Amino acid sequence: MENYALPNEVSGGRMGGMKFLITAGPTREALDPVRYLTNRSTGRMGYALAGAARHEGHDVVLISGPTTLDVPEGVDFIQVETAQQMYDTVRDLLRGVDVAILCAAVADYRPVSVAEHKIKKSEGRLVLELERTPDILGSMRSEFGYKGVLVGFAAETQDLVAHAREKLLRKGCDMIVANDVSRPGIGFGSRENEVTLITADRAESLPRETKEWLAMRIVEHALSLLP
Ligand code: C5P
Repeated sequence: MENYALPNEVSGGRMGGMKFLITAGPTREALDPVRYLTNRSTGRMGYALAGAARHEGHDVVLISGPTTLDVPEGVDFIQVETAQQMYDTVRDLLRGVDVAILCAAVADYRPVSVAEHKIKKSEGRLVLELERTPDILGSMRSEFGYKGVLVGFAAETQDLVAHAREKLLRKGCDMIVANDVSRPGIGFGSRENEVTLITADRAESLPRETKEWLAMRIVEHALSLLP
């Protein structure tokens, strides 16, 4: 288990009392009883966001795929495995949420069918057929009728701001937290990150910092977007 700690300079409870819903971590999409498709997300950014929002006195529900992190104290925690489970859980828990930050690295594809027994090896190639998973962020406004502040994440390798702003509009987000995953030492699996906060009319680049420090800034910025 890794220890989760907030930086010392963090200032205490400014507004408090808002309801946050945060998704974090990877999802796992089973191929058979012992194998699955997943990605390199550790969940650290999402857990830092949950810790930061809680530290500021807000109610937080953290919906997470499998990680090895400790759950920040005082945070309501729901563990899920698949994209479908995360979708169902987000939909069911949205009532009364003021700020939703969808930070999870949700699998875009899952096997069309899950083998009942372990797939045996044989000579030659094995072809997997995959289908799309539900788009949770893209469903928030259109399917779930969510009206609160909506923050999405975007991992891009080129034209960061343009791609993130396109995603902001397409998915009805108020803010996109964009990071350039082509750069070494930040992002997936790393303790530090370097992100740009993108709203409809601004793009603000934050310094390279720990995910805990960035989480405080993201939470503050999201709160400033409340009506
Ligand atoms: O379109 P893309 O997958 O790059 O968007 C990333 C953002 O969308 C992240 O905020 C992620 O949590 C969210 N997402 C989601 N459901 C999916 C795929 C991505 O909520 N199936």
